[in-house]
Amino acid sequence: MSAIVVYVSIHHKNTEKIAKAIAEVLNAKLVKPWEVKPEELLKYDLIGFGSGIYYWKHHRALFKLIDNLPEVKGKKAFIFSTAGINIPFINHRKLRRALRRKGFEIVGEFSCRGWDTNGWLEKIGGISKGHPNEKDLERARRFAKRLASLQRDQDSTDNY
Ligand SMILES: Cc1cc2nc3c(=O)[nH]c(=O)nc-3n(C[C@H](O)[C@H](O)[C@H](O)COP(=O)(O)O)c2cc1C
Repeated sequence: MSAIVVYVSIHHKNTEKIAKAIAEVLNAKLVKPWEVKPEELLKYDLIGFGSGIYYWKHHRALFKLIDNLPEVKGKKAFIFSTAGINIPFINHRKLRRALRRKGFEIVGEFSCRGWDTNGWLEKIGGISKGHPNEKDLERARRFAKRLASLQRDQDSTDNY
């Protein structure tokens, strides 16, 4: 299985820590959305999309990349994020919808808290300070291992 992880991490590099942890387990290439061409992305069996959450959604560069893709018919994708207030039900909604509209099958989602000093929060030292921490990273690695094993099951079915 080949995998690629596309991410944006602009605030405190919180999401970058998660992206690296997941990519290491999946042996995946790590790229920013503006570094990869649609046709290159679609060469991979599994594509991860992640960023910090900025005003209740993922970074706009991810949406732009997805907009530029052709219809993908069941290609496997996963979503991840870090946020000051971790509510994936709300924070992942727009990206989930954009991916499904393109025909992606979403095989997993991961989220955790990330240190947030946006706006006035800076005055109080921010929220979710210290996150992602080692526990969050361990959860991310476990998530990636589950994705890898799902993919292994799929590969063995395909070869049967
Ligand atoms: C401009 C901006 C907007 C943000 N909006 C939200 C938000 O709507 N909800 C939330 O929980 N966190 C919000 N945050 C906090 C980030 O999601 C959080 O710090 C995240 O871990 C940043 O990831 P990064 O360091 O990878 O960029 C915002 C941060 C910034 C800078």
